[in-house]
Amino acid sequence: MAGKVTVVGAGFYGSTTAQRIAEYNIVDTVVLTDILDGKAEGLALDMNQSRSIEGFETKIVGQTTTVEGGGYEAIAGSDVVIITAGLPRKPGMSRMDLIETNAKIVRGVAENIAKHAPNAVIIVVSNPLDEMTALTQLASGFPKERVLGQAGMLDTARFTHFVAEELKVPVASVQTLTLGSHGDTMVPVPSRCTVDGKPLADLLPAEKIEELVVRTRNGGAEVVALLKTGSAYYAPSAAAARMAKAVIEDSDAVMPVCAWVDGEYGIEGVYLGVEAQIGKGGVKKVVETKLTDSELTELKAASVAVREKQADVAGL
Ligand code: 2OP
Repeated sequence: MAGKVTVVGAGFYGSTTAQRIAEYNIVDTVVLTDILDGKAEGLALDMNQSRSIEGFETKIVGQTTTVEGGGYEAIAGSDVVIITAGLPRKPGMSRMDLIETNAKIVRGVAENIAKHAPNAVIIVVSNPLDEMTALTQLASGFPKERVLGQAGMLDTARFTHFVAEELKVPVASVQTLTLGSHGDTMVPVPSRCTVDGKPLADLLPAEKIEELVVRTRNGGAEVVALLKTGSAYYAPSAAAARMAKAVIEDSDAVMPVCAWVDGEYGIEGVYLGVEAQIGKGGVKKVVETKLTDSELTELKAASVAVREKQADVAGL
């Protein structure tokens, strides 16, 4: 076993991601960092004590860091760094309401990663996701294929769950896909949704599919409203951990992620939710799927909206 994954931010999202990756037992070390003194160290100690029960050898290292970069030496040599740092939403907030606060936090983190783990693949999960991914690439100066964001895996998983619940079938029989942004311009792709290989459109009326699409688009907000403090982390961390696993194992898995799109679908220069082949080095290829005319129109509209916001974020 070799390899090292760092998770920046030891909130619920970060700590569950760290524990999931450790439980995969595929890397020597998972580093968990946080700016709250002792929090990462305490959680790491707790996680390490679960090793003999869960049967994994990966060691978790907790490290308190400072905004100025203190403690970041611990991330040196990381193959993957996952940025979870930043504030989550409160009930009634949109992901976009976090943009100014989280841009400052994420920019600082990205600069420190560039200094201490210059060869890492960075997976961003902080919100607003598409904008924070673009900002991380700018602030780190990393090649675009080495910076990607987690959203499509989560949105697709939520859509799959809702379809499975509606039709009372196992989740394993359901295939769904969402592209576009992790927000208002999320683009569900009904033409790629099937249950046991049958088109979803043959199994549910259009209004019902639309209802599930709307619930998927608001999937994060629904959890936030119930929790009242904090946002979702079990499904989000599962998605982020799987992406890290694909990089570590160089698996070439095709996953919906936020990746740099430049030419695919006739869309130029933007971080956008698309399917991509993930392995060593990050995004190996954006995989274009066949879309209907209306799905393609929606994806292009999403790219315009997201590009505008990503241009704004460069100045934050
Ligand atoms: C969500 O959708 C945290 O953005 C994440 O729940």
